[in-house]
Order: sequence, then structure tokens, then C-alpha cells
Amino acid sequence: MLDRIEKIESEATAAIEVAGGTAELEELRVRYLGRKAELTTILRGIAELPAEQRGEVGGSANRTRTALEALLERRAGELDATELEAQLAEDQIDVTLPGAPAHPAGHLHLITRTTRQIEDVMAGLGYQVVEGPEIEHDYYNFTALNHPPGHPARMLQDTFYVQSHPDVLLRTHTSPVQIRAMEAQPPPIFVIMPGKVYRRDSDATHTPMFHQVEGLAIGEGITLADLQGTLEEMLKAIFGSEREARMRPHFFPFTEPSVEFDVSCFQCEGSGHLVGGERCNLCKGQGWIEVGGAGMVDPSVLGFVAESGYDPELVQGFAFGMGVERIAMLRHGVPDLRRFFDNDVRMLEQFS
Ligand code: DAH
Repeated sequence: MLDRIEKIESEATAAIEVAGGTAELEELRVRYLGRKAELTTILRGIAELPAEQRGEVGGSANRTRTALEALLERRAGELDATELEAQLAEDQIDVTLPGAPAHPAGHLHLITRTTRQIEDVMAGLGYQVVEGPEIEHDYYNFTALNHPPGHPARMLQDTFYVQSHPDVLLRTHTSPVQIRAMEAQPPPIFVIMPGKVYRRDSDATHTPMFHQVEGLAIGEGITLADLQGTLEEMLKAIFGSEREARMRPHFFPFTEPSVEFDVSCFQCEGSGHLVGGERCNLCKGQGWIEVGGAGMVDPSVLGFVAESGYDPELVQGFAFGMGVERIAMLRHGVPDLRRFFDNDVRMLEQFS
């Protein structure tokens, strides 16, 4: 019996040592230590042995079982480690291989980019970006901007009104945000106000929805000369450092004096003529291109926000407004404004 036990131990030991995988090892565990294994049967039968054999056989069989259990555990540990290593080697990722081509992620629309560029320049001059609602009250769009009810200037803009609420409309310009911004914070105020505006208009240079950027600067001692300097700084940043700004007298109900402002033509360098001598088609031989409207904020406009700290006797300043599409069209030579909103990617992709 003792011989048999020794035999089992050496046979099992040899088999376990050369086991090639965890599955095979499990088979060996069942074969040598399982319920039906020979060793188990011997251990189970010890009680039936003659008394003088029990101690020796029982001791030997138990030692063998313990030894085989320990060996199985050690071998399982070794096999686990090798299998993990093999798996790691097989699954290895080569991080130096070129990746799959990036999914096309698109880009900002030219109008968004142009708006942000203007915001960036103005932020550099200390202006804050603020926004207002596109569905606006008549009060902010017109009344507080010095167009009282019945004022003929209200007819200048073809306005989309909300039928059920005659005093609610789609804002026709970003100027109402001037009033909202002043209501929200006392002077001094330096704000830039981008956004969508709406007019009942549609042709190659007009769409019912377009974008404007409005500027407002109110404080003590702000003059028309500051407006000139600010416009020049902004126009140089947009159109190039060689450009100049020009103001021409004009009329707006909410500024006094009012101006329109131009940038010197970037195609003919302001000369009005191309190299060959013919008339510059961009500025129509003028040397200047109209960009927007501006002026010194009318004291009566400040009167509408006097309660927020805008005493027209103490503070003054300027405002300006311009169309974003117009700037983008000029800079990029886009002939028809409507192409910005057709959502034809072949057109939009040119401006990535
Ligand atoms: N709101 C005017 C428009 O849509 C543009 C404008 C003119 C804005 C003069 C201003 C300004 O702030 O001072 O035509």
C-alpha cells in the first residue's frame, strides 16, 4: 500500500510538472485528488485497515495529498502567469502605427468665425460680449432707441411683427441690446453685442435673417475721436493693418451726431484703381467701402436708462453697428449672400 502511494505521488508529480495549461491541470487535480481518485479511495479505506497499518498508511497518504495540493497550486500560479504573458504578447498594440483616419469633424461657419474674430478684437480692447433676445419688445427695438410710436424711422425697416402681440417683433437690429445692457449694469460700460436680426428682405445682398455686431461705450468724457480710434483698431484687425477708417455724416434716431463708417479699400489700397488702371470693382472706384453705422449715443436714449445710473449730464459715449455677412462677403469675395444659408457643404467647406 505504501509503495502504491509513493507511485501515485511520483506519477502525479511528474504529470503536474509538465502540464501545459490550466485546463489540463484541472484534469490532473480531478484524476489524483478527486472523489474517485485512487488516493482518495485509500484515505477513505483507512479505517478498515488492520490497526497496525493505519498510522503509517494514513500518514503517508495524507502527506502525499498535501504535497500534491501544494504542487498543483504552485503550478497553477506558474501557468496563469505564462498564459497572461502570452495573451499580452498576442494582443500587443503597436502605438507607432498610424491611426485610422480622423472622422471629418466639420468646422465653424464663416459667419460664426467672422463674428468671433470681431469679438476677439473688441475683447482685446476691454469690451465684454453680451447677448439679447431675438424676439424683442417694440420698446427695446424702437421706443427706447428714440423712435417713438409713429416715428417715420419705424417705417425704414420692414419688420416681422408677432400677429397676436403687436408690440412683440423679431428684432430688426442688435441695437436693442444696448438698452438691455445698460439696464443691467451702470456706467462705465464697454460691450459688444453679436446676434441674429430679421428684416423682410430677400435678394442677393439681403436675407430675412442676418447677423450684426453692435458696440457700445459709455463713460465720462468719451468723444467722437474715441469712436474713430476704436473703429480704426477694429477695421485694421479685420481687414489688415494697412487699412484706415473714415466717418461720413449720416442719420440714425439714436445717435447724435450720426455717421456711417468706411474702411479703405483692401483691393486697390484705397486708390480706387487697379494696377492696370481700370476702376476698382470692389469699392466702385471710391477707395472706401461702407461697413456700418455709428455715432454718439443720443442723450435722450440715455434718458431711458437714467435709473440705472446713466445721467446724460454726466456720461456719454458712442455706439456702432455692422452686418457680419457683409464683412464676410467683402473679405472672401462671396458674390451672393444667400449662399451662406443654403447649407451646401461644397460652398461652406471653402472657408474652413
Ligand atoms: N442699428 C443700425 C442698423 O441696423 C446700425 C447702427 C447705426 C447701430 C448706428 C448703431 C449706431 O449702434 O450707433 O442699421
